[in-house]
Amino acid sequence: MKTFPDPAGLPHPGPGDSLVVLARVAELAAWPGFGFALPEAEEARISRLLKAEDRAVRRAAWQLARLLLGAALGCAPAAVPVTRALNGRPQLDGAGAAQLDLDFNLAHCSGAVAVGVARGGRIGVDVEDPRPLDVWTDIARDMFDPADHASWRAVPKEARAAAALAVWCGKEAVLKATGEGLAGDPRTVKLAPSGAPSAVQRGERRLLLAAGPALAPTGFACAVESDRPPAVFVLTPDGWRTAGL
Ligand SMILES: CC(C)(COP(=O)(O)OP(=O)(O)OC[C@H]1O[C@@H](n2cnc3c(N)ncnc32)[C@H](O)[C@@H]1OP(=O)(O)O)[C@@H](O)C(=O)NCCC(=O)NCCS
Repeated sequence: MKTFPDPAGLPHPGPGDSLVVLARVAELAAWPGFGFALPEAEEARISRLLKAEDRAVRRAAWQLARLLLGAALGCAPAAVPVTRALNGRPQLDGAGAAQLDLDFNLAHCSGAVAVGVARGGRIGVDVEDPRPLDVWTDIARDMFDPADHASWRAVPKEARAAAALAVWCGKEAVLKATGEGLAGDPRTVKLAPSGAPSAVQRGERRLLLAAGPALAPTGFACAVESDRPPAVFVLTPDGWRTAGL
């Protein structure tokens, strides 16, 4: 019988390396045997969400994160020790994670989830549902630096929504790697609308920003404190497939 492809079968990041797994929500739901009971406090937090679809997608993101982290730490997924920093950023606790210098981050939108793990530096990931151009026009006016806004306006109209999605995912991935979240000013993360991998200096952290069409039309970006881009895998009906960036 078809069973959920064990993330333990994915490559284990060595020092300085990172790994990102991406899955469409519909894809995850189609796999028999995916999921397990989350720790009580985590489940309680999720069960307070009003919408059933929000609860389902967060549960899936955390189950996927715990499967990946359990494989890295050699423990049961539900036993992976997670705490929250003051800014809400989830972080690993315990000697195992400290020894591996392991960081992680996750993201969810209505269509997809992403989990990133990194050794030796911070990682931030983002996935976002596509939005129409008029919505991006408002977001870009408020959230893009004036020079970036001008470069974005110069993108041909038919490509502008996808470009804004890529820039927005990049900004969030950077702010999630540093832990600022949206308490940081997205305008101060300056990104050209090309989607090409680039280095971003944010305070003392030098982050490599990478994005790709692995989940298109859903947007995805990853910022990692490393010189090397992450290995990216996407869940397909046949198991994990490597995705180029
Ligand atoms: C973190 C934040 C950028 C997430 O953005 P989002 O697009 O809504 O959601 P994403 O799916 O990308 O990420 C959500 C996950 O990021 C993680 N996260 C939360 N705070 C984080 C932070 N400061 N840094 C990195 N990751 C964070 C969590 O795991 C969260 O999922 P969970 O709540 O299920 O545990 C944003 O919600 C935030 O900054 N929140 C803090 C409150 C705040 O400043 N609000 C102002 C809104 S204008």
